[in-house]
Amino acid sequence: MSITKVVIPAAGLGTRLFPATKSQPKEMLPLGRKPMIQLVVEEMLQAGLWKVLVITGQKKRAIEDHFDAADGDLFGEGESATDGLLPQFYFRRQAAQRGLGDAVNHAKEFTGSEPFAVALGDCIIDGDGPAPLMCRLLEAHCSKGAAATIAVQQVAPEAVSSYGIVVPEGDTEATFRIRDIVEKPSMAQAPSHLAVAARYVFQPEIYDFLGRTEPGHGGEIQLTDAIKLMLGEGLRVWCVPLAPGERRLDIGSFKTYAQAFFSMMLRDPELGAELRDYVHGLLD
Ligand code: UTP
Repeated sequence: MSITKVVIPAAGLGTRLFPATKSQPKEMLPLGRKPMIQLVVEEMLQAGLWKVLVITGQKKRAIEDHFDAADGDLFGEGESATDGLLPQFYFRRQAAQRGLGDAVNHAKEFTGSEPFAVALGDCIIDGDGPAPLMCRLLEAHCSKGAAATIAVQQVAPEAVSSYGIVVPEGDTEATFRIRDIVEKPSMAQAPSHLAVAARYVFQPEIYDFLGRTEPGHGGEIQLTDAIKLMLGEGLRVWCVPLAPGERRLDIGSFKTYAQAFFSMMLRDPELGAELRDYVHGLLD
């Protein structure tokens, strides 16, 4: 099965970054020279995902403007490892921010009866693995005949309450199956330290479960809760762990945004060396 469609939810209000994101999308904040969401699209192109639906909402028009074809060649020669693949963009508005699960539910007409990927618009997977993470997810999804396949990362025990946490069936070294998933558990109740890492692949059956998912944590329709329902009905959900050389850079909070921005800017091919000297100077 060849998967070419990806859904990028980018309609969230970004309240943790107020006032910076009061009237502009957090997904347009730059990481080095490019806005975050452009880096997400480049990551998707590496995996052959070129039909891109961005879920937008209030104050998100800058995203559509950024990807206007008339605006020049964003994904042109030498820009990214896209092998000449150019993205085709679609946009759909989520009128009320009812959660990530609700955002994904807005992709139903776009994906139709095809399997599809989901990549959060406020995070990239940085670094090197045996192959790009999304390629590994797609490969695992197809070879295992999974209903859903999820990227996961090890997090510190005190960080579990910020993530969806999975319950593995067995060994978690390579691709592994899970038997449950819990949204933002407390440290004491966390069944593992393996957190959902912002990248997924789904069979269209996910929509049946999203339709039946009640508002959960924070009063929002959680994607994690729909996956939990899938597992409850015996569907197969697999996980692919981030490789040791990979990490998630996200811009959900000012701390992680600053970390992500420095990581990208300090290795800028033109300015990186100079900026590293500058930072050393400041620290001295
Ligand atoms: P977050 O929960 O981290 O983003 O969602 P948020 O709601 O914008 O952030 P805060 O908590 O108010 O600061 C992760 C991704 O899912 C999208 C967001 O845009 C972000 O890229 N999202 C979230 C939606 O598209 N719709 C929603 O209803 C919620």
